[in-house]
Amino acid sequence: MKQLQGRDLLSIADLNSEEIHELLNFAQQLKAGEIAPEGDLSEIRKAGSVLGLLFYKASTRTRVSFSVAMYQLGGQVIDLNPQQTQVGRGEPTEDTARVLDRYLDALAIRTFDHKDIETFAQYADIPIINALTDLEHPCQILADFITIKENFGSLAGITVTYVGDGNNIAHSLLLGGALMGINIRIATPQEYPPNQEIVAQAKQLAQNNSEIIVTNDPIAAVEKTQVIYTDVWASMGQEDSAARRIPIFQPYQVNDALVSHGDQDAIVLHCLPAHRGEEITASVIEGKQSRVWDQAENRMHAQKALLASILRK
Ligand code: CP
Ligand code: NVA
Repeated sequence: MKQLQGRDLLSIADLNSEEIHELLNFAQQLKAGEIAPEGDLSEIRKAGSVLGLLFYKASTRTRVSFSVAMYQLGGQVIDLNPQQTQVGRGEPTEDTARVLDRYLDALAIRTFDHKDIETFAQYADIPIINALTDLEHPCQILADFITIKENFGSLAGITVTYVGDGNNIAHSLLLGGALMGINIRIATPQEYPPNQEIVAQAKQLAQNNSEIIVTNDPIAAVEKTQVIYTDVWASMGQEDSAARRIPIFQPYQVNDALVSHGDQDAIVLHCLPAHRGEEITASVIEGKQSRVWDQAENRMHAQKALLASILRK
């Protein structure tokens, strides 16, 4: 996909619906082992390309799926552990960004403040990929959309209900769903709503193509929904409030009773890592409606399609 060459992915809304459709199709073709749509597989090889990983938070799926995707494209990754690079000792982001720009072909960053990746993108010309911030997790949402397509054949008109904390996953779902004509329902405790600016942006993007609902009622929200999605009650960086959150979030647990209110063919998603007995029960995550392992696998296919599209040859 030539139009993505050299582009950043900071927010899922940096892509338009056509670009997301093309990326998902490309990823599904890669997963199926088919030839890449623009020609021979050799055209998507990025031999010698180097992706930097600058992760200030823990990661299993994102780190490993990016690494394997780069390897399979013929490139490699460098782990820029902040503990071992000067940025961890206070070298300004602006300086680090301009230097890494001279060495790397792309940089994936996992951090707290979304503004930090915007600063990287401002000072570096290479593609900057949001590998999760407190505000968004766009790479996750690409994989989620592949999983929904695999189960329902399409995205438009599907209803996805996210139950839990109004966090980065909820935000990227709101924006991505709105772009793709997916009805998005977000059910959170009153104390932990999604960011109001993101909700407004999603409503604007959705226009009349999909319904965006934000509520505090989890049972009404999952009524007849086709996808039930949850995530941890305390995200990375919120460990101090984890115990305080548990009783507040209890009514939002995705358990068999809540799932029974959804469509009988509904699937259950979780970006992982999961806390069984908190946001999801063992019976649901291990149950027949769960698609979490496919969803985790799809991270790699989505990111391979993304890297093959944004990296210059
Ligand atoms: N879902 C996700 O991003 O997982 P990791 O934190 O393991 O990368
Ligand atoms: N909301 C979670 C997602 C982890 C993949 C977090 O930010 O910790």
